[in-house]
Amino acid sequence: NKPRIAVVGSLNMDVVVSVERLPRIGETITGEAVHYIPGGKGANQALGCSRLTAETVMVGCIGSDPFGATVLHGLAASGVGLEAVGVMEEIMTGTAHISHTPEDNCIIVVAGANALCSAAYVRQHETVVASAHVVMAQLEIPLDAVIEAFTIAKKAGRVTILNPAPARALPEELLLLTDYVTPNETEWELISGVSGQSDESLLSSTIIEWEKQYSSKVIMTRGDKGCSYVEDGQLHTCPAPRVQVVDTTGAGDAFNAALAYGLAQHKPLAEAAALAVTSASLSVQRFGAQDGMPSLQEVEAAL
Ligand code: RIB
Ligand code: NA
Repeated sequence: NKPRIAVVGSLNMDVVVSVERLPRIGETITGEAVHYIPGGKGANQALGCSRLTAETVMVGCIGSDPFGATVLHGLAASGVGLEAVGVMEEIMTGTAHISHTPEDNCIIVVAGANALCSAAYVRQHETVVASAHVVMAQLEIPLDAVIEAFTIAKKAGRVTILNPAPARALPEELLLLTDYVTPNETEWELISGVSGQSDESLLSSTIIEWEKQYSSKVIMTRGDKGCSYVEDGQLHTCPAPRVQVVDTTGAGDAFNAALAYGLAQHKPLAEAAALAVTSASLSVQRFGAQDGMPSLQEVEAAL
């Protein structure tokens, strides 16, 4: 029985410029190359789930432009269900403007059609959302749409995963609908209001309190350190293997996709976390958010 996952979120065209270093304010520098590659946290996560053999459907919006067509083509080729992807008139597909340096990246996202993925739009696709085992969302679409998706999911008794990226303060209503929240360290500081992740006892007490307050589970991604979560009152860290980094774009998405896959299969949290960390570490060894998404075979071989 294949796990069914619905991803409610963004679809973008990533415009990636590879460059030795970032420009300073007011400075002009020369990039090495530009690549147009499909991205968007929602689409990346959907593709990641599908590569791991989950039956995956995407809920989101693109524009009726060539970027949108390219993005759809990539998802279709990977077997993602597209019946709930809307092609909107007179608006551009979302774009992400990425500066990719040897060590890291920085990104400016322009929402475009993703802004039309509203609560009303999600409601039109209620059946798709309600029939998934796991419903996963990020924050590149309007917040109301995420709340609507999770309301539908919880009413149907489904599991919800919120990847709170890009970071923003979150309303209590959404947190109460969320079963798993997967911030990175800076996102966690922003949503919890507590800084100082290096103090592990403060970190675990903050997580414990949060989990009680919102009856949800926190799984924090920590870059090359792996991920951390609290179980039986103890902070556990699932370490990441040391790898040669080519491109960190989409590493968080690979993590979330594999976590959703593991949870949809009712794996224990430690196992789902290991799957997620392994998947993310494979993804950073390849260029491009979606090209980096590993297959189930690759993840199992690397575990
Ligand atoms: O998480 C990576 C993604 O964030 C990129 O693909 C880009 O589209 C941005 O939305
Ligand atoms: Na990558």
